Amino acid sequence: MTAKTMEELVALCKRRGFIYQTNEIYGGLQGLFDYGPLGVELKNNLKQSWWSSMVYERDDVEGLDASILTNPAVLRQSGHEDTFTDPLVDCRSCNARWRADHLEKQECPACGSTDLTEPRAFNLMFKTAVGPVDDGSSFAYLRPETAQQIFTNFKNIVDSTSRTLPFGIAQIGKAFRNEVTPRNFIFRVREFEQMELEFFVEEGSDEEWHEIWVEKRLAWWRDQGVSEENLKLLYVPEEDLSHYSKATVDIMYKFPHGLEELEGIANRTDFDLGSHSKNQKDLNLTATVKENKSSNSKLAIQKRDTGEWIVPFVIEPSAGVDRGVLAVINEAYKVETLGEGKERTVLSFPAHLAPIKAAVVPLKRNNEDLVKAAHELKDQLQSLRLGRVVVENSGNIGKSYRRHDEVGTPMCITIDFQTLEDGTVTLRDRDSMEQERVHLDMVGKTFQERIVRPDSR
Ligand code: GAP
Repeated sequence: MTAKTMEELVALCKRRGFIYQTNEIYGGLQGLFDYGPLGVELKNNLKQSWWSSMVYERDDVEGLDASILTNPAVLRQSGHEDTFTDPLVDCRSCNARWRADHLEKQECPACGSTDLTEPRAFNLMFKTAVGPVDDGSSFAYLRPETAQQIFTNFKNIVDSTSRTLPFGIAQIGKAFRNEVTPRNFIFRVREFEQMELEFFVEEGSDEEWHEIWVEKRLAWWRDQGVSEENLKLLYVPEEDLSHYSKATVDIMYKFPHGLEELEGIANRTDFDLGSHSKNQKDLNLTATVKENKSSNSKLAIQKRDTGEWIVPFVIEPSAGVDRGVLAVINEAYKVETLGEGKERTVLSFPAHLAPIKAAVVPLKRNNEDLVKAAHELKDQLQSLRLGRVVVENSGNIGKSYRRHDEVGTPMCITIDFQTLEDGTVTLRDRDSMEQERVHLDMVGKTFQERIVRPDSR
């Protein structure tokens, strides 16, 4: 079961400290959100899971963390200055602005007027002044995708790691787009994070690698608890492809507001490395690129067997962190009927994503001995470095269990007076609600087993 409406998720996220509207006390700022105490844990866990599968569990990928502010020449060459636009229309009656391709009919959704301007191209990139003089001559863009910084570091990474094809460069980081109509909570925002891999391959093997990456990425989303029936593949029609793409497959997810893109996997050919290279004429490029007068580098690699210099093709799985967070919360969300008219809300996250891994609950609030024992156990579990463990000193066991069900804590451990006598505690499982009595000596091992197993839910 997933949420019936986006409103249910928005309310839970605010109530429990996952996601807040940015600058809410000043009326907010459209298309921007902040991740609260539980949101930051969930988001970090999702990013960590991606990094682990893309970098640590492979032998052919290196990591990168590059600047957000980007030299305008990069985004001129990449085609973003010319083509990274949305069609914008203005309502002549109320001055509201809309994306022409999001309007169902030729009518302003705010005031109903049909007096709209012709669509015009609106560039989505944010600019900012660099240095102390703000005369417009020295500016940088806030990157609209993390990918370009990977391409411009291609030579650095090849030179410092001696990589040969095929290999990839992975990066997680912020991207910014001045979306005309940000909407649907954290689905379409103006500041977001991407998890991007640029995987460099030889031309000719690109189509096979494209298929491999689509399968790998689908499997990863399933490991994050996203159910098969809510994922669909969209083979993007030729007329909708981005300027750099030869073929793109979108992984679509059934969000509460509809089936929409969660991740795009594109075959970017040799467009980007070719665009950022000097002496392009000598490179035998497949893609049509803009002439480059400012790059001082050739972004090519030498084939190990023949010594020939080639510009690799790129397969790019590019996922949105925020869309990922929305999808995994939606998938984990359940309202269960418990009988006698009672129900409970549970977030059944896979254990590796849960923001809090375990809550240690002293039976009686502020009882010195119980609270001391609870903190000792918390410290012991925390030292395993598997994620956040908390002491829940509310004195109300039922309420503590409900609260932790609602934020997805896989395990509650209750310390009671018997604990002080015989060293046993009660372990309570989030999903089954089953309780078992175990000795404190066993808690660390059980905790480790349940939290580390990636499929443990
Ligand atoms: N480097 C390729 C690229 O940026 P994209 O399809 O424009 O491709 C990749 O973006 C992913 O980034 C999307 O699948 C989506 O998950 C996320 N994304 C894009 N725009 C977004 C926005 N305004 N708000 C939240 N996530 C966004």
